[in-house]
Amino acid sequence: MIRIAIDGPSGAGKSTVAKALAAKLGIIYVDTGALYRTIGYYVRSKEVDPKDAVAVEKLLPEIRIELKYENGTQSVLLNGEDLGDRIRTPEMSMYASAVSAIPAVRAFLLDTQRDIARKNSVIMDGRDIGTVILPDADVKIFLTASNECRAKRRCDELNAKGIKAKYDDVLFDMKMRDRADSTRKIAPAVAAPDAIPFDNSWMTPNECTDKLLKLIEKKTGAVAGKA
Ligand code: DC
Repeated sequence: MIRIAIDGPSGAGKSTVAKALAAKLGIIYVDTGALYRTIGYYVRSKEVDPKDAVAVEKLLPEIRIELKYENGTQSVLLNGEDLGDRIRTPEMSMYASAVSAIPAVRAFLLDTQRDIARKNSVIMDGRDIGTVILPDADVKIFLTASNECRAKRRCDELNAKGIKAKYDDVLFDMKMRDRADSTRKIAPAVAAPDAIPFDNSWMTPNECTDKLLKLIEKKTGAVAGKA
């Protein structure tokens, strides 16, 4: 079993690269941001302020979250329903970031994340994987890229999904969200002391994946397809 943690700010390419690495290594890719997005979605559907910790905590007993994997693709089920791309909007990014600062929400999602890594070889991406969720991960990577690169990638990604997004708005929202995620009191999005910092600003997703694959193979001895 191997466990790989990929943390870093939004738009650093974590999910693209982690998905490609998971396929090459034959292990499961866990997108933990989707869990916070799903809680954000539920909070929004109940018209509750995502920053109101008491009100959000009251909703948690109504929420059942399950992770499902089919052909390497993750779905998150909210009370049995797959929300698909409804959790991928800029509004849901902000809701996810707000609810993720609430300790009860993080405690609520802890077991779901640790459970999947107990039972499977995983590559998990998020903000606190190397620091909190999998402190003993075999490899920890802190993936970054310049603000401009990250905003452009996020913008292209949203537009490709048919969600209209302007570069300046995306850049502004991204900076706000990163500041909130990295300065919050609980599990801030910071690199674990033993994480490898990796800036992929000038790399294509394939270049980044290849370089990280080599690094992972060197650290773990795992060979693509045989993890
Ligand atoms: O990775 P993402 O953009 O889908 O994450 C959405 C928000 O969820 C992000 O702004 C912060 C939060 N998050 C977190 O606090 N911890 C994680 N492990 C993953 C995401």
